[in-house]
Amino acid sequence: MRKLLIAGNWKMNAGPTEAKVLADEMAEMWKSKDFNNEALICPPYVSLPFVVKSFRDSFFKTGAQNVYTEDNGAFTGEISTSMLKELTCDYVIIGHSERREYFQESDEFIASKVVKSLNESIRPILCVGEKLEERKANDQKTVVGTQLKAVLSQVDEKHAEDFVVAYEPVWAIGTGETASPEQAQEMHAFIRSLIAENWSPDAADKVRILYGGSMKPANAEELLSQKDVDGGLIGGASLKAGSFSEIMAIAEQTTK
Ligand code: PGA
Repeated sequence: MRKLLIAGNWKMNAGPTEAKVLADEMAEMWKSKDFNNEALICPPYVSLPFVVKSFRDSFFKTGAQNVYTEDNGAFTGEISTSMLKELTCDYVIIGHSERREYFQESDEFIASKVVKSLNESIRPILCVGEKLEERKANDQKTVVGTQLKAVLSQVDEKHAEDFVVAYEPVWAIGTGETASPEQAQEMHAFIRSLIAENWSPDAADKVRILYGGSMKPANAEELLSQKDVDGGLIGGASLKAGSFSEIMAIAEQTTK
């Protein structure tokens, strides 16, 4: 059985001071409580050391929002997997739609980051998803299929357990609009079938597929209870300890 992964993507919010307060609050809310799934927070790079420290005695994990493909050297502004490992980061978000759109990240570049992070034992959360006009043209499977296959072709299926996909329809990110549970399930099942085809059914069964796009306490249950939805990548609602905790509690009630 796959554990649900409840992941917070703070994006470019919460510098060190604010991040520490927020992470302390989250850790405090779950202090001496069990969590049988996985909870993860991905703050901006500069806040990572503070969040790692706040979560030191808790089950919360930390991740980055991006990474580069080289270990070190003349790559001004970049951060490597070894640096993230030194901070004890468990995960890294790769290929978020905001990076694809504003920083022109290509499928090939994204695939090389996924390969690098898996080789260095940091679990990638590969983001895929279609834009509004692509959904309107009913092209969502073609778009997501292309994004996913570019990565699957470069990665060995032995990494299935460490490989996470986040289906994030761009039209649902930060808009308050969410994919319906049926739309989410349809795309998640499609993603799993593509993994089965490109790797194997056994590997596909191990990969966790998160939903992202305006997930909040009010819609988390219907989304998380879908058969192929193995967690959430949560932006806005992860910036409040209360709402993120509520989603975590909903995950605990959702038995698969
Ligand atoms: P949102 O962001 O929850 O604010 O829509 C999700 C994401 O972009 O990962």
